[in-house]
Amino acid sequence: MASVTSLAASVNQRVADALSAALPEAGAADPLLRRSDRADFQANGMLALAKKLKGNPRELAAKVVDAIGESDVLKEIEVSGPGFLNITIADEAIVKTLAARAADARLGVPFAASPGTTVIDYAQPNVAKEMHVGHLRSAVIGAAMVEILEFTGETVIRRHHIGDWGTQFGMLIQYLTEHPHELDHKGGEGTEVSGEEAASNLNRLYKASRALFDSDEEFKERARRRVVDLQAGDEQTLAMWQRFVDESKIYFNSVFTKLDMDIRDADIVGESGYNAMLEETCRLLEESGVAVRSEGALCVFFDDVKGPDGNPVPLIVKKSDGGYGYAATDLSAIRDRVQNLGADTLLYVVDVRQSLHFKMVFETARRAGWLDDKAHAVQLAFGTVLGKDGKPFKTRAGETVRLVDLLDEAIERATTVVREKNNEKIALTEEEIVENGTQIGIGAVKYADLSTSASRDYKFDLDQMVSLNGDTSVYLQYAYARIQSIKRRAGETRPVAHPELPLAPAERALGLHLDGFAEVLAEAAAAYEPHRLAAYLYQLASHLTTFYDQCQVVSEDNPTEVVENRLFLCDLTGRTLHQGMALLGIRTPERL
Ligand code: ARG
Repeated sequence: MASVTSLAASVNQRVADALSAALPEAGAADPLLRRSDRADFQANGMLALAKKLKGNPRELAAKVVDAIGESDVLKEIEVSGPGFLNITIADEAIVKTLAARAADARLGVPFAASPGTTVIDYAQPNVAKEMHVGHLRSAVIGAAMVEILEFTGETVIRRHHIGDWGTQFGMLIQYLTEHPHELDHKGGEGTEVSGEEAASNLNRLYKASRALFDSDEEFKERARRRVVDLQAGDEQTLAMWQRFVDESKIYFNSVFTKLDMDIRDADIVGESGYNAMLEETCRLLEESGVAVRSEGALCVFFDDVKGPDGNPVPLIVKKSDGGYGYAATDLSAIRDRVQNLGADTLLYVVDVRQSLHFKMVFETARRAGWLDDKAHAVQLAFGTVLGKDGKPFKTRAGETVRLVDLLDEAIERATTVVREKNNEKIALTEEEIVENGTQIGIGAVKYADLSTSASRDYKFDLDQMVSLNGDTSVYLQYAYARIQSIKRRAGETRPVAHPELPLAPAERALGLHLDGFAEVLAEAAAAYEPHRLAAYLYQLASHLTTFYDQCQVVSEDNPTEVVENRLFLCDLTGRTLHQGMALLGIRTPERL
């Protein structure tokens, strides 16, 4: 494995060196290099620097050009405008760099200089409840961040903080105790139950027990006593609780499998998993004075968190009735993740509507000394999924949309697209149509989520998602499949890099973009922004489209070297697309 220095990075280094040689008093200055339409790169750094040192920017730029001197990488470098540098890379350097990338299984992408350990809290649905689009976002964005960070060399520990604890279990368990056959499986004891059946069992039970809880005071009282039994660890009550958890996991797993997502049982550590720590967490907070008693509850106060009436709104770690809530669990989880798992970063992929909760939890943990310079926590907050009408996503009847129904519809629509595009030349079998339809449908849903900045709300619009044109996963998947089809058409001719050949403009643009893969990955990893990778891949596919339009690949009119070199560009584009999409959790079918 050999990491490859990108052309942007080596040009940047050269200009920076020349800058300090030409202007030693400037120290280490950033040349501010970026891609440009005029040349390949433009460096703007001379302007600010000359201004600061009261010099003439054009003169400074000319000095820098002199200091750079001759090089194999640079074809041309000229001063332009008020003092920019326009830099053109030699064709040969582009192809040589790409050949080095192609020779590496990681496409020349380096590992991070000092990787750490990140715990990612994502894909956290709630036991005995239906999964909704919010859970989809957490799962999709979280899974992409897991892959991207692992690719940089980070040690990633996954935590699915499922909602498997709390007072609602009193009601559920009590109901099941009184109606013992409600979770029995249709096929009889010991038979497998489908995710669909598990979900509908749980749903029915939830609704029935809720109705009873709301209408029957005596049942309510029995349910309350159940909560006490559950918290006291009563064996029979716990066994009942476990049935809900197990049944829910069957359902979750069926959805995650449909999402083509690998969720491991060992990584599911729900709220109940921190139960044994709650008391100690509260004791430590109280002893250190971080939390104080207020109206019987154990609370943490913040100067800048106030309610509409101007009164402070505390984080309640222990309620006045002695019960622990969501916050105590999250604080215990922080202690566990930092102290036992050795994390230096805690990343929470959770709805933006929980931002205040996390702000208070993180601040409390800092005051308690559980988070500090060595261990910090970040919320990767995501926005709401909206319907086509721009309102929060609901069914016509006003109910929350079931995630499974959405995924099934996406698969169905994508399958229709694949079937319609199929012809004698592609000749997909029915089995392949169904498989591709599934990969495209799921890819479409994931990509729609990953291609917009997570913090923004986004419209769930299936028509747009499975469209062949525009910024969709289908467009990227077709680009990938097209490359594979060209390679098949090339028959015996293989992809071979020919650095000696001159490049057409579309080849250069594609090549330079390919060379930027590592930088985009590093940015996406550092900023927790998978949409940067999605945008890069979309641009890559667009460069490929232009390249096809302008450059014939397999053609009798082309000398063999030109065919080989173009196949090489196609091949590396395909591998980059495949790698990038895989990091986003999206498949790339070979034939479409
Ligand atoms: N189960 C919660 C929900 O459905 C999300 C859990 C987020 N993670 C956490 N550590 N609080 O809203």
